[in-house]
Amino acid sequence: MPCTGHSIMVSSGDNFSLWMCAGRSEKTDVFVSRSMESSVGAEKKADPQLLEERAIKPSALQIGKVNVDPPLILAPMAGVTDRLYRRIMADHGAGMVTTEMVSTQGLIRDQGATWRLCAQDDDVKVPMAVQLFGGDSRVMAEAARRLEDKGVQLIDINAGCPVKKVVKQGAGAVLLKTPDRLARMVESVKASVSVPVTVKVRLGWDENSINVVDAARMLERAGVDAITVHGRTAAQFYGGQARWEWIRRVKEAVGVPVVGNGDITSPALADAMLRQTGCDAVMIGRATQGNPWLLSAIIAGWREGTTKNPLPDWMDFQDLVEKHVNLFLGQKPQAAGHIRKIMLWYSRHCPGAAALRNELTHCTTVEAMVQLFRVWVEELQHRGLPFMTSKVPEHRMKRELPTENGPFNCKGLKPCR
Ligand SMILES: Cc1cc2nc3c(=O)[nH]c(=O)nc-3n(C[C@H](O)[C@H](O)[C@H](O)COP(=O)(O)O)c2cc1C
Repeated sequence: MPCTGHSIMVSSGDNFSLWMCAGRSEKTDVFVSRSMESSVGAEKKADPQLLEERAIKPSALQIGKVNVDPPLILAPMAGVTDRLYRRIMADHGAGMVTTEMVSTQGLIRDQGATWRLCAQDDDVKVPMAVQLFGGDSRVMAEAARRLEDKGVQLIDINAGCPVKKVVKQGAGAVLLKTPDRLARMVESVKASVSVPVTVKVRLGWDENSINVVDAARMLERAGVDAITVHGRTAAQFYGGQARWEWIRRVKEAVGVPVVGNGDITSPALADAMLRQTGCDAVMIGRATQGNPWLLSAIIAGWREGTTKNPLPDWMDFQDLVEKHVNLFLGQKPQAAGHIRKIMLWYSRHCPGAAALRNELTHCTTVEAMVQLFRVWVEELQHRGLPFMTSKVPEHRMKRELPTENGPFNCKGLKPCR
């Protein structure tokens, strides 16, 4: 079946308040190198014992006036956590969502594209943190003040980004080299806004300068309202495993809430992070790409017995992918590259994903991609594979997958050149 010629519905986007500089057309700033856009690294092996220990029910996290319930936060990811992505994660149960990192200079210069990164849908009810990056405290304080004027509920300061373009501005992870300067930045921002101010850090600049515990104490003295710790150094980028023991040390050292981040890819690992570090909330980034069901599965575990939602199936999957694609096209009709990226995210861990990936590279139109995706999902459904076994590792480990799958032989997956 040739996969061309099918029209797809393009929505013009739904209600949202684009309260800032609507109509300007600067290209979206992308601060992340391609190498950073890695997929989730090797999954941590979930210890079977952890699965046995699952009765955890974390309480809501209060950060200043902001109530994060459940204490499950979408991580900031440049080029990923746009308005639509945040909406989908909020719909699937995130207790708070975070924007991509936003340039303080861009806000001060009133760049429309930068302001648009901070737009939030009116009907998304969970709180949203705007993450700022910049090297100048006064500019950061002024940008935060303008955001508060627009109704933003929480300001997060990026002190973890290792990307050269950011670091050379004196922003991101390089701030960890001078934690006193970072603390003064927090004081400046705190002095200019009344909303909570949080900081997201790594363990330190490199292996020889791990200083996250001291830095966290300084940030607490400066008045920070919560600290997120990604358990890697800047030099590690995304290599190796996140070292959660440092998150526990920070939690033991400070009285403000601590959010644990790094390598959570399953409900058992979310619980293990809470249990092993004592942190007050978990933050998840890469594993949510194409997988909002991970969030709902985590919450279902926390609220065991109270959730009445039926398990999603392949049709729900298909509906959500098309919704994501259509809403995105409503904003940017010429975005075939991004649409392919969205489909690759969603196909991850699903049977036949490699075949799909291969064929997607040959599709030149969005219509062709959508049609190809439909055929692929139909085949998955036809095979009777339970959906959640693909998307949530614990379901996979329960061996719900039929053992005799055979090679993925989707008759519809034909090249669509
Ligand atoms: C594509 C991509 C973009 C990211 N952008 C940001 C960012 O803008 N600000 C930030 O603090 N961290 C950023 N991160 C780091 C994540 O927020 C998170 O700390 C990291 O991925 C570890 O968490 P995870 O294992 O749950 O993904 C980014 C990560 C990725 C993969």
